[in-house]
Amino acid sequence: MRFTTSVVGALLNALLASAAPTPTTDASLAVTTVSNRVIFSPPSNAGWVDPRVLYARALSLSSGPLLATWENYSPEPPAVYFPIYRSQDGGASWAQIGSIKDTVNGWGLRYQPTLYELPQAVGRWAKGTILAAGNSIPTDLSKTKIDVYASTDGGATWTFVSTVASGGVAKPDNGLTPVWEPLFLVYNNQLVIYYSDQRDSKYGQKLVHQTTSDLATWSAVVDDVHDTAAYAARPGMPAITRLPNGNYIFAYEVCGTDGCRVHYRLNRNPLDVLNTPASATFTLKSTKGTTPVSSPSVVWSSVGGANGTIVLSAGNSGQVFTNRKLGDPNSWVEYTTPQPSAYSRGLELLKSDDSALVIIGAGRLPPSTTNFVSVSVLDLKALVGA
Ligand SMILES: *[C@@H]1O[C@H](CO)[C@@H](O)[C@H](O)[C@H]1NC(C)=O
Repeated sequence: MRFTTSVVGALLNALLASAAPTPTTDASLAVTTVSNRVIFSPPSNAGWVDPRVLYARALSLSSGPLLATWENYSPEPPAVYFPIYRSQDGGASWAQIGSIKDTVNGWGLRYQPTLYELPQAVGRWAKGTILAAGNSIPTDLSKTKIDVYASTDGGATWTFVSTVASGGVAKPDNGLTPVWEPLFLVYNNQLVIYYSDQRDSKYGQKLVHQTTSDLATWSAVVDDVHDTAAYAARPGMPAITRLPNGNYIFAYEVCGTDGCRVHYRLNRNPLDVLNTPASATFTLKSTKGTTPVSSPSVVWSSVGGANGTIVLSAGNSGQVFTNRKLGDPNSWVEYTTPQPSAYSRGLELLKSDDSALVIIGAGRLPPSTTNFVSVSVLDLKALVGA
């Protein structure tokens, strides 16, 4: 299905009429809601490549602003890059303040950007440094490389930091050797980067991580999820967040053998996801029976009492899936949102108020010539009735 502007508008109106929180004038409500606000829509006639934009990510900075970036299929040359847009009003309005350009390979920064603010110093990089990682890939898609860049000026300028992993042809076919989809986490005074890895001939694809304590050298590859019984299994798209009971929820898709359904593991040690017992490994299923598919993103908010609320987004759904029982497999409740479904939406919470849920998306996989980048900011308390 193609998402024309009018379809989006009609859907949005229907959603707002049926399920969105009632508009209120209560000034004490901290969260100003934003519904499917367009951040960037490429010009339609200037050589932009299908799907134009994809795979958007937002980052709430502790200094206040929101940043956004995405896969940006601008005409080449010049090499593709990750744009950096900023909002200083909680997601209502956006302007470009910079871009992350490949300064080491000459290939461009093409796929799967991720943004992260360092919660503590790592090596020579101070607390508050903004990190970006993404997949540097040449125009002919012959190579993949996960590179890290850093900004110390709020996202305006970026410096190459280090390379984490290098792989082969950027196509998701078993037997090829690309690396994909990086994601950062600081744990135990180390910076961890999770990603998808096709370089191990035992598996079509597996999930792995590497760690660093200086952002210069990275540890050996450690497996997080692989399927010893089925070469064709393609666990991918890692997502992780910490829960208040000390567990981490590690969510991922399983393509190849399970239709890309979303699975998750609960484990105290985010460096040992691989040895999570079967009793703490689940296929996500909502209380309505929905099993969401592909590209999960997950955050944890303190909204809703001691357990707080886990919020998860998946690629085939405009809903979000929430869990107020620390990942209990029978307690996933789905809620409609005004943010349309997209391939690999990003979730983020405002650092100043974690009841503000940011959902950012940038449309569908190709063929899709109408994708645009948009964001919704929702009051999670109103959404889940907490
Ligand atoms: C918090 O989560 C635990 C574990 O699932 C559950 O037993 C408990 O009922 C939850 N508390 C609330 C208030 O929902």
